[in-house]
Amino acid sequence: MNRQVPRPKDFVDLLRFQKPTLNATKRRLARAHTIADLRKIAQRVTPKAPFDYTDGAAEQELSLARARQAFEDVEFHPSVLRDVSDVDTSCIVTGGRSALPFGIAPTGFTRMMHSEGERAGAAAAGAAGIPFSLSTVGTATPEEVAIANPRGRNWFQLYMWKDRDRSLDVLNRAAASGFDTLLVTVDVPVAGARLRDRYNGLTVPPTLTGRTILNAVPRVRWWFDFLTTAPISFSTFKQFDGTVAELLDSMFDPTVDFEDLSWIKAQWPGKVVVKGIQTLDDAKRCADLGVDGVLLSNHGGRQLDRAPVPFHLLPTVVREIGTDTEVMIDTGIMSGADIVAAIAAGARFTLVGRAYLYGLMAGGRAGADRAIEILSDEIVRTMKLLGVRSVAELNAGHVTQLRRLAPYRA
Ligand SMILES: Cc1cc2nc3c(=O)[nH]c(=O)nc-3n(C[C@H](O)[C@H](O)[C@H](O)COP(=O)(O)O)c2cc1C
Repeated sequence: MNRQVPRPKDFVDLLRFQKPTLNATKRRLARAHTIADLRKIAQRVTPKAPFDYTDGAAEQELSLARARQAFEDVEFHPSVLRDVSDVDTSCIVTGGRSALPFGIAPTGFTRMMHSEGERAGAAAAGAAGIPFSLSTVGTATPEEVAIANPRGRNWFQLYMWKDRDRSLDVLNRAAASGFDTLLVTVDVPVAGARLRDRYNGLTVPPTLTGRTILNAVPRVRWWFDFLTTAPISFSTFKQFDGTVAELLDSMFDPTVDFEDLSWIKAQWPGKVVVKGIQTLDDAKRCADLGVDGVLLSNHGGRQLDRAPVPFHLLPTVVREIGTDTEVMIDTGIMSGADIVAAIAAGARFTLVGRAYLYGLMAGGRAGADRAIEILSDEIVRTMKLLGVRSVAELNAGHVTQLRRLAPYRA
């Protein structure tokens, strides 16, 4: 090997200092390349109780772990030598367009994760051209969401009550604010046992106790935002003092049945999707009722633990309920590749809950934008690597499952 004495110029050519970004949030977000990265940032900047409320699930959290595992166990089958210079990620869902095959799932108490809450989520969804869903226990009103996302699509999620006047009131407000799709959540006759919330003594709004004060110190920005913005209030009612479980139990009505669903459907002027379907039989009953869609979901593992993995249920439901009822899926989606797998396995559309909330916690509106950008980049890249140019080209031939978690009757 011939050696030489390096000249100063050789060093200079090697140096590539980037202009420092003074905004700490921007700097952090730019360094996040996956949803898992956003989750880590979220954990650092959000107090333990709201972080755990978001990150956690019910009982032993098996439903969530299995749903994520099922996506990880996807094996893709790419076609090569296709011109994939341009990829169209858009699709039609409940009668309207979405620029990407996913939307934002409805989540409660969103201003507890970050004070910008739903307004940031709705604005980010609008900017990306995807639907945003507001929860019955969301922390912005339908009117506020319509202002945050004036040109985009907004969906409303309803927890049904036997008290029909109460349901009607809420529906009328959402319809008057231009929401085009109603998600009727049916997997919560009672609240699931979110054990982390019990251990943390989570209240709404969060409170400072001797135990939480130490945790608050390195998260002063969250507390500053929380204390210097309007107090948390809800989409469909004003204030509530108590634990999350108490509030949820007051929201749910265990007597609701298919007849009530039928009545709700008749009241809503737009499209109706039933959220939380977990068996083929129930999917069929919904299709027979003439709803526009079913969302295969176990509520992000936050209700029944050991529930069916929605991704496993998907192909059968798609095959059996035909093309009149749109089949969507959520729970466990942590990457754009998961979304591509779900679409290839027959889903019309997907929703993401935590993937977006990790971004929101990590950096408010900018963090929600980054989460959507990460998922979008992953979708485009996965589609190109699979050799497809449009969402419609994705088909069952592109995915199989590794056997580890395959369901069978014991
Ligand atoms: C913090 C949090 C709050 C939620 N609140 C609601 C809600 O108010 N209504 C509802 O129908 N689903 C709610 N969900 C469930 C989501 O709509 C969605 O089904 C779930 O998050 C999908 O799983 P993923 O988080 O793995 O994407 C919530 C989920 C989370 C994580």
